[in-house]
Amino acid sequence: MTDRELLFNIVHQLDAGGDWLDGDKYLTYYWLGRMFRPKIIVEFGVRFGYSLYALWLGSQAELLVGYDNEHDHPGSSDYALKMFKKIKGPDVSLRNQDTQQLQALPYRNVDLVHVDAWHTVDGVIHECRLAKGCLSPGGIILVDDVTGNESVRSGANEFCQLWGVTPVLVPTVSGLYIIPTAVGK
Ligand SMILES: C[S@@+](CC[C@H](N)C(=O)[O-])C[C@H]1O[C@@H](n2cnc3c(N)ncnc32)[C@H](O)[C@@H]1O
Repeated sequence: MTDRELLFNIVHQLDAGGDWLDGDKYLTYYWLGRMFRPKIIVEFGVRFGYSLYALWLGSQAELLVGYDNEHDHPGSSDYALKMFKKIKGPDVSLRNQDTQQLQALPYRNVDLVHVDAWHTVDGVIHECRLAKGCLSPGGIILVDDVTGNESVRSGANEFCQLWGVTPVLVPTVSGLYIIPTAVGK
């Protein structure tokens, strides 16, 4: 199975022709959702909803919260919300907000946070700090693009060092960190 098959009913026409959906990046999100079974998921950087949808497919989470200021695609959140309305089950809240302006999230006991919005060193550190502030005991942070983007890797590594945790690299096409919290400070 490919990402395109997994996401077939939500792929935006902008992505319909490209070959980047012929891999298994989103299948990896599906399996991580299935493995960790988060009940509450927060995502920074939703775009058209692919990773959040794949995580939900695997986990059947009850609450999905996404933050995206539509920096890349005006209207992308409306599109994602429309797609999420087609699925029954989770409560979905998509917020049109700049992650860098957030001081804290109005959520607690979040099981999984996916960091994938502002790809600068400080941006990633800030999103990881926001994540840390709302995680449940044993919750995890995923950071995408750690091999695809040097700034993201530096930010994620700096955060892990500050926090005293060791990330696990999942070798997807763009590189995904799993940052555990159980042993964090
Ligand atoms: C790499 S895409 C996310 C892809 C998505 N996670 C997926 O895999 O389907 C990054 C998204 O982050 C959003 N973004 C960039 N900077 C942001 C910021 N400072 N605050 C909120 N969203 C931001 C962009 O608009 C874009 O939709």
